Amino acid sequence: MIKKKSPDILKADKRIQKIPGGVKVLSYAKLNLYLEILDKRPDGYHNLETIFERVTLKDEIVIKRVPGNSIRIETDSTDTPKGPGNLAYQAAKLLKKDFAISAGVVIKIKKRIPVGAGLGGGSSNAASTLLGLNHLWDLGLKVEALKEYAARLGSDVAFFVYNYPLARGSARGERIEPWSGFKKKLWHVIVIPRLNVSTACIYRDLDKARKVAGNKRTFGLLRIKNAPVKGSSSLRIKDILFNRLEEVTFKRYPQVERLKRDLKAQGLKNALMSGSGSAVFGMVEGRKGGLKIAKILRRSKNLKVFVAATAV
Ligand code: C5P
Repeated sequence: MIKKKSPDILKADKRIQKIPGGVKVLSYAKLNLYLEILDKRPDGYHNLETIFERVTLKDEIVIKRVPGNSIRIETDSTDTPKGPGNLAYQAAKLLKKDFAISAGVVIKIKKRIPVGAGLGGGSSNAASTLLGLNHLWDLGLKVEALKEYAARLGSDVAFFVYNYPLARGSARGERIEPWSGFKKKLWHVIVIPRLNVSTACIYRDLDKARKVAGNKRTFGLLRIKNAPVKGSSSLRIKDILFNRLEEVTFKRYPQVERLKRDLKAQGLKNALMSGSGSAVFGMVEGRKGGLKIAKILRRSKNLKVFVAATAV
């Protein structure tokens, strides 16, 4: 790997902050405002079209040098793996090996983003680790090089390497372009049932359903023609909210569909599942309105509820 000098785009990235003995990186969650799944690829993944939104719900990653030569994960979350199963661990391992770094690091993850919810928490942590170690080990990698590492770790990791509040994702999800469909911050109530959804399992269900249907057109390839590629000033949120995976996730987990109905019953007409679930979000006018609805929804003990906005 050729070493390139430190790029300005990363220097100006407010998510990355130098601290004594290390670096702190803000690790945001994402919502998919639009998600259409296209064909299955020879590598087993699916081509897709999506609009990612980075939201203010976030984890915090602190990376510090420690004696020795190993990677250690520390976290306050019981749902997060502490070893090689953690994407942040894998990110560190990748850079450590490629750059022949012999130094120890501890990666502390203050976890707020629920796991297995379609909010990209693990992917975001991996991207934050790439960003943080690039800084800590002075690797001088530009965002395009970091993006290559990101794509090797997972389909959603690349989005979080870029510093874009809104972006269009294509190919496996790792091809990213900034998107400016909405100029104003969006506000959401995000609800998560106590349920971990396996993304791989949902994609398998989709493949099966498509095989049975035997006709791709029933799965809305038409929709892609209207995919909000560039965005426009007159775009309304309700024109783009769509998630192809809702149908299959709802079938396997009817409680997720019920959750969407519950949001609508609270007056949130524009509601959608994120990624492969289990999180469902509703659009609200602002923080105040969001907090009001969140208070009502929190009466249900089985739900995690957050109010979040576009993280600009
Ligand atoms: O890339 P990532 O590890 O996040 O993907 C998890 C799983 O979701 C993959 O193993 C694959 O089954 C499915 N997937 C897919 N096509 C994509 C993204 C994910 O089939 N574009």
